[in-house]
Amino acid sequence: MTLVDRAIRRARRAAGHDTPDIGSEMARRDARWDTFCRATEYINFEAVPGDIVEFGVFTGISLALLARAHRCDPKEMTRRVAGFDSFRGLPGSEEPHARWQAGDCASNHAWHPLLTVGDAVTPDVTRRLFEECGLDAPLLHVGPFADTLPAAFPAVHRQVALAHFDCDLYESTRDALWALAPVLQDGAMLLFDDWFHYRGHPQKGEARALSEFLAAHPQWGAVQYQPYSTFCNSFILYLR
Ligand SMILES: C[S@@+](CC[C@H](N)C(=O)[O-])C[C@H]1O[C@@H](n2cnc3c(N)ncnc32)[C@H](O)[C@@H]1O
Repeated sequence: MTLVDRAIRRARRAAGHDTPDIGSEMARRDARWDTFCRATEYINFEAVPGDIVEFGVFTGISLALLARAHRCDPKEMTRRVAGFDSFRGLPGSEEPHARWQAGDCASNHAWHPLLTVGDAVTPDVTRRLFEECGLDAPLLHVGPFADTLPAAFPAVHRQVALAHFDCDLYESTRDALWALAPVLQDGAMLLFDDWFHYRGHPQKGEARALSEFLAAHPQWGAVQYQPYSTFCNSFILYLR
């Protein structure tokens, strides 16, 4: 149990709730929770301004955990939590993967507090999940990234402090990084959920997208922060 969980449990007990909440159960089951706590503590302590955005929302668990981690100790940093997803499953890719197929993730395939396996994935599932967790409603940009990214950056999100890339594919991660370019802040935290997929190949998937982004934007450098869970890695961006 992290310090964040202890603080949330104390607050719930003080408010008269004895049972663990849905958020605690999600956190307990998700190997990324500790890193989400550290990443939000880092952006809040370092006062990196801007929103928390996620590319690849699916059933909303990681977006809700990021919001929960931030809310526990925001250190007076005001941030919106936003997610981008078509909610139609993965598009195709030029890079074949051992397991992923176009259309994967259109329905639920794992434990979820509100869904059973096979249920349809919709934006309302994420909205309901936030409500059940007692979190402020997230801003959801619904549609293929090609449609939603140009409208969102910089018009809706003028600054971004933390980006969570969980859209699996090279093309989707590349498009998200390029759209973020004008709003990324010095010290921004980049979390990559699928970094070591494609058998860890540095020129495939999310690793390829970041390496091409850095080559095309020489004003940015990236320092590795922490690898986490099985396939994930994280970086802090700095202005050279
Ligand atoms: C692995 S799931 C995300 C899981 C979620 N972050 C979690 O941990 O619960 C990947 C999601 O990325 C979305 N996605 C990938 N590429 C996309 C694109 N180009 N446009 C819109 N959505 C995309 C898919 O629809 C899918 O829901």
